[in-house]
Amino acid sequence: ELDSLDTLVSLAKSRSFIFQSSEIYGGLGAVYDYGPLGVELKRNIRDLWWESMTQKHDNIVGLDSAIFMDPKVWKASGHLDGFNDPMIDDKQSNKRYRADMLIENEIAKLRSKEKAEKADELQQLLDTAGSRDGLCEDLYNIIMDYEIRAPESGAFEWTEVRQFNLMFETQFGATSSGGDGDDSVYLRPETAQGIFVNFKNVMDTARQQVPFGIAQVGKAFRNEVVARQFIFRMREFEQMEMQYFVEPGTDGESYDHWLQKRMEWHKALGIREEKLRVEDHPEDKLAHYAEAAADIQYEYPIGWQEVEGVHNRTDFDLSQHKEFSGKKLSYYDQKKEERYIPYVIETSIGLDRTVMMVLADAYREEEVNGNTRTVLKMNPELAPTKVGIFPLIKKEKLQSLAHDITNELREDYNVLYDESGSIGKRYRRQDEAGTPFCITVDFDGVESEGEDTVTIRYRDDMTQDRVPVSRLKEVIDDKMKE
Ligand code: GAP
Repeated sequence: ELDSLDTLVSLAKSRSFIFQSSEIYGGLGAVYDYGPLGVELKRNIRDLWWESMTQKHDNIVGLDSAIFMDPKVWKASGHLDGFNDPMIDDKQSNKRYRADMLIENEIAKLRSKEKAEKADELQQLLDTAGSRDGLCEDLYNIIMDYEIRAPESGAFEWTEVRQFNLMFETQFGATSSGGDGDDSVYLRPETAQGIFVNFKNVMDTARQQVPFGIAQVGKAFRNEVVARQFIFRMREFEQMEMQYFVEPGTDGESYDHWLQKRMEWHKALGIREEKLRVEDHPEDKLAHYAEAAADIQYEYPIGWQEVEGVHNRTDFDLSQHKEFSGKKLSYYDQKKEERYIPYVIETSIGLDRTVMMVLADAYREEEVNGNTRTVLKMNPELAPTKVGIFPLIKKEKLQSLAHDITNELREDYNVLYDESGSIGKRYRRQDEAGTPFCITVDFDGVESEGEDTVTIRYRDDMTQDRVPVSRLKEVIDDKMKE
């Protein structure tokens, strides 16, 4: 069992899964790089998602839209006006905080000091803040009235609370307006809008009829203010989204269907069921575009948190784009002889949060002969390396057969040849990398009568079988399917 986020962060680094961005310069906040094993794990998850969405459905097609989009997209989508967090700055340390989270921290502090009454009172104020407009003023007043101090400096000198837009803004090359107009473009904060603006293109050219879906994987960017939770909350991250276009009136049923289907996907990934749950969003906490929404949550070392969202976005986005672009974004239903703007059921999962879930869920520390073995017991399909191949010692005869096996298996699997260190150490390294199979070439196998044999050792229970070399691939193929 994983006891803390720090343990995960340090394993992820030492086993070359995940590094902090620009680490040699001190590290860039909430931005991470995937190392040699991380990139394979991420790719395996992405491939499984893509296959389950596109290959397994006749009526879901793929898309890869650009990160930059016409700025009007973000006006229409509501992100320019509504994709904000309420921020406050500590004047003494110049540190920025999310005003609502400061208050939440204070409530938690009060509860830990068993001041339940005051905590309830504060919670009540936080829950109703902004209900008569003026969210910023309300939050500011709470912070002042309860003398909430800055967590780091302990100071009590605050700026006003103001809305801070989470979109990153940049400029396109030569400014056509001479600098006084608005040439701003934005890094997309969700991949979904690329799907909405291509709805008509896909419908007209890909021979799809409602209900149908468009799936996309790609980077998204948010200028997150509270970003201290490893790859859980990043400023640059990857989303895997699918928008399913349905006839209005059938949206409720479709929403239930996709929520259930997505939960099944997580279980099929091998995630422990007791660590997964669905949480419905209460009506007053819904995003600006949603009529119904639920999180699929995982119990991370930082607690229960969202890994995926399933949303009923109604006809909000297509209607907005229809209005702002002036283009016909409706669908003509031939059978019913009716024209309508489809409703959208969205499934939206963070790839990085899925990586973090898979690593956290796989992590085990076990006592073996008085020593601790760290092992990542992940679904073999996700494992970055499938097979480790070791000559028992550095002798030509063993090395040569081990190389032959490596070359044969690499046609189908990601493999790793390793001859350095004791065999026990080599097994442990692969345990920490999550490698499900290790093959050892020893003298018993090559010097006895008849066909050459090797041992294959299984990661999870450390048992071994002796297998003829000619049957190795078959054995691994079978075990991969189990
Ligand atoms: N298109 C809908 C949408 O973007 P969201 O709930 O804001 O909805 C969807 O994001 C998913 O994207 C989340 O469930 C989460 O897995 C991932 N995600 C969102 N913000 C993230 C961040 N700052 N870092 C990593 N993943 C993030």
